[in-house]
Amino acid sequence: MTYSRITGTGSYLPERILTNAEMETIVDTTDQWIRERTGITQRHIAADDEFTCDLAEHAARNAMEAAGKTKVDIDLIIVATTTPDRIFPSTACLLQQKLDIHGCTAFDVQAVCTGFVYALGIADNFIKAGSAKCALVIGAETLSRILDWTDRTTCVLFGDGAGAVIVEASEEPGILSSHLHADGSYEHLLNVPYGVSNGLDKLKAGEAHITMKGNEVFKMAVNTLGRIVDETLAANNMEKSDIDWLVPHQANIRIINATAKKLRMNSDHVVMTVDKQGNTSAASVPLALDTAVRDGRIKKGETVLLEAFGGGFTWGSVLLKM
Ligand code: UT7
Repeated sequence: MTYSRITGTGSYLPERILTNAEMETIVDTTDQWIRERTGITQRHIAADDEFTCDLAEHAARNAMEAAGKTKVDIDLIIVATTTPDRIFPSTACLLQQKLDIHGCTAFDVQAVCTGFVYALGIADNFIKAGSAKCALVIGAETLSRILDWTDRTTCVLFGDGAGAVIVEASEEPGILSSHLHADGSYEHLLNVPYGVSNGLDKLKAGEAHITMKGNEVFKMAVNTLGRIVDETLAANNMEKSDIDWLVPHQANIRIINATAKKLRMNSDHVVMTVDKQGNTSAASVPLALDTAVRDGRIKKGETVLLEAFGGGFTWGSVLLKM
């Protein structure tokens, strides 16, 4: 049987760091409130001339280098993003051009904060079906472009960045299962209420911003992520103690701690980047994964649970052996 396995990871964060102290000068907030309610101390913000595809390119090149792959090896590119550079072509096609890759399948996935988990699940299925051998899977965002910088309930939460993995066909088990869900009936709790087809004038005026009923999203996220942990373990006939690492979506330290508690997992087996990066939506899971792979915490052969929850609502998990 053919499996798919992650053979390299990469990531990129824009140079500019926006601290909580600076946030205090932008909206009516405090470093203490942001730290206590979210765990965030700073976030990275893309430069004016830096776009989602640029962040994706840096992360992609890092992942390709880590896996020892060149442009001729890649036969599938999936970019998960909520903030594409253009309406079309897709960010995946723009990235393909930057990487000088020609002819392979390339498309974007839009599942907001769950985007990378969706993209990884899709790549796994392509590989298992024999439709691809070496996929480049990326989560990349410039969320700072769709924030209302006068709304303290959202603008303190998000940041920009990109993370990438190379996923290859393998005889050795890698991705063990993926579980992808959505329920569009909750769209009113977390959305950008305008787009190209509905509200182009608002988009042009720069008035298309993230709106969120934070407290309600928080409760849904905690409960739903608890359920996805159970679903993933049951599908793999595993116990909580079989998981070596939790690599969660980085929205809020309190949500992450609740999922870790559900897994009875010590914080030293939970990868946490929300403090330094904020919520980077589709980029947060691959950024966290790359951080823990590069600093040597996550090792080959270990069992890793990736999970995410976000706008849609969408939610999902990928269980894998590194
Ligand atoms: O990634 C996609 C999924 N997103 C998430 O998972 C985010 C889920 N939600 C959350 O993480 C939390 O709900 C937030 C961090 C967004 C908010 O924390 P909370 O503990 O749920 O606060 P709250 O919304 O209930 O607001 C509590 C108070 C309010 O004041 P009053 O009404 O009690 O006087 C807010 O106006 O905190 C106030 N507040 C702030 N105060 C200082 C809200 N934002 C701020 C702020 N600075 N930035």
